[in-house]
Amino acid sequence: MCGIVGYIGNKEAYPILIKGLKRLEYRGYDSAGVALISKEHQLNVYKTKGRVSDLESFVTQKDISGNIGIAHTRWATHGEPCSINAHPHYSTSETLALIHNGIIENYAVLKEKLQAKGYLFKSSTDTEVLVQLIEYIKTTNHFDLLSAVQLALGEVIGAYAIAVLEKDHPNEIIAARKSSPLVIGIGEDEFFLASDATPIVEYTDRVVYLEDEEIAVIRRDEELKVVNLSNVETIPAVIRVKLNLGQLEKGGYPHFMLKEIFEQPGCITDCMRGRINLDKNNVVLSAVIDHKEKLLRAKRFIIVACGTSWHAALIGKHLIESFCRIPVEVEYASEFRYRDPVIDADDVVIAISQSGETADTLAAVELAKSRGAFIYGICNAIGSSIPRATHTGSYIHVGPEIGVASTKAFTGQVTVLTMLALTLAREKQTLSEPAFLAILQELGNIPAKMKEVMALNDQIAELAKIFTYAHNFIYLGRGYSYPVALEGALKLKEISYIHAEGYPAAEMKHGPIALIDAKMPVVVIATHNGLYEKVISNIQEIKARKGKVIAIVTKGDTIIRQIADCCIELPETLECLDSLLTTIPLQLLAYHIAVCKGMDVDQPRNLAKSVTVE
Ligand code: F6R
Repeated sequence: MCGIVGYIGNKEAYPILIKGLKRLEYRGYDSAGVALISKEHQLNVYKTKGRVSDLESFVTQKDISGNIGIAHTRWATHGEPCSINAHPHYSTSETLALIHNGIIENYAVLKEKLQAKGYLFKSSTDTEVLVQLIEYIKTTNHFDLLSAVQLALGEVIGAYAIAVLEKDHPNEIIAARKSSPLVIGIGEDEFFLASDATPIVEYTDRVVYLEDEEIAVIRRDEELKVVNLSNVETIPAVIRVKLNLGQLEKGGYPHFMLKEIFEQPGCITDCMRGRINLDKNNVVLSAVIDHKEKLLRAKRFIIVACGTSWHAALIGKHLIESFCRIPVEVEYASEFRYRDPVIDADDVVIAISQSGETADTLAAVELAKSRGAFIYGICNAIGSSIPRATHTGSYIHVGPEIGVASTKAFTGQVTVLTMLALTLAREKQTLSEPAFLAILQELGNIPAKMKEVMALNDQIAELAKIFTYAHNFIYLGRGYSYPVALEGALKLKEISYIHAEGYPAAEMKHGPIALIDAKMPVVVIATHNGLYEKVISNIQEIKARKGKVIAIVTKGDTIIRQIADCCIELPETLECLDSLLTTIPLQLLAYHIAVCKGMDVDQPRNLAKSVTVE
């Protein structure tokens, strides 16, 4: 939900800002803009509808000089995507420019107040209100920029990560955050700021993650200063981040999504590294060691998440309930946070989030914490808001996920949930030792089996060509495969814009079966596990109505081959680990259908990677 970048130092700011925006483009890509203070003290703002590359074309022939600047890539909330609504926004006098990620909820009241005082608004955004309010406070009170920002933010309700430039102060950026992420990078005689560390790591590994209601005073040739809205100073905690630049590039793949699908065998190995010891038949999660009592005493687990992470949560429910015999509830974070959920001190709430920034999941965490629950985070982005808000947790360690459609994060989340369930089960002695050992050893085999699944890429690419005609798709699965069906449908919807629904296979006869005709492709996860025979009956029901069945089966399956229109054969594994393999052909199918249809796979319309607004 919008990416922001800033630079102050001795280098030309523009190339650094543009490169930074490109790294953050996954956060939003409907318009982009930059503000620079030139050596002649001009505050130049350039912005345009479209991608960062459109901004680059737009600024040719313009003065892009200056070694201080801020830039923004937008995901529209208030006001349609257009150049007027793009950030940065000028104040009325054009002496201030501001970029913002978040939502100012009381913008309408503030806007009315400012309009009554003669302020004119050009855009329909909530953000413009903020820059005008800062100017109003600054000029009426003769305040400096910092004091005006402090007072203005005190009047604001909502979420923000902002950065402000002032024309006559070319040596200063004021930046602040509340509920939207903001990272400051500290280099040699230079500072960077960004929504996450990816635009910064190329220049420095020393970063400060601002906390809520903290303001960074970033001045040339001075130490970074951090104050709160009441001007109380805190000593910024500088931490070192390690991000491999290669992980931020496509590495020869046509899209990040395909690269990330193919990375999964390595990601799962990384996720298990140091946690699973196959020689000693052991699995260790440090969070479980540190908080054993709390976790073992839990009467109930509640998992909160959104989107793909919610699908992983459904698999987590199966795993924890069947291995540990602890009841698990899975909730959409957005629903949970606005109900009055029954939570008590014996509950453990697990929050799953790739980005660690999803506003609804973060709010659910805060709510559960305020009710006394113990919070366990399962996240990918190191140092992001959710891991910082939880009591403990486990990172999935799959590396930066840049493609907007989540792929490797899902399998990383399922892997961590499997390790968590195994660790707790051993402590609680709810799994027999042979069953524990069989699952653990097979988990160790999963990366190699994932590689075998990757070899099906060409077959799936061919299959995709047949189904580009479809306007609808149905995905069916039972047990562990039901969340995979939901995930397969979500992937297809997101990147190919084909309507798709996931159902528990047996539910089909209660309604969705009415949709089946000769044109309807139905993807059925029918591996040789659990309810195999029952799934065969479901396939028969579809074929009796002439539906086109694409079956995901276990290698060597001869029965379904005779009924289904096409089969994708996967290596055999345990039922509880099936989802780690069955998800992959569905990711590849969605990818290839989208490519065949000429869609923008990495930046699908209307979506953004990090949903930091409600
Ligand atoms: C789907 C997708 C989204 C996210 C959801 C939660 O491909 O990417 O559905 O899974 O927005 O995001 P995180 O996991 O960052 O909380």
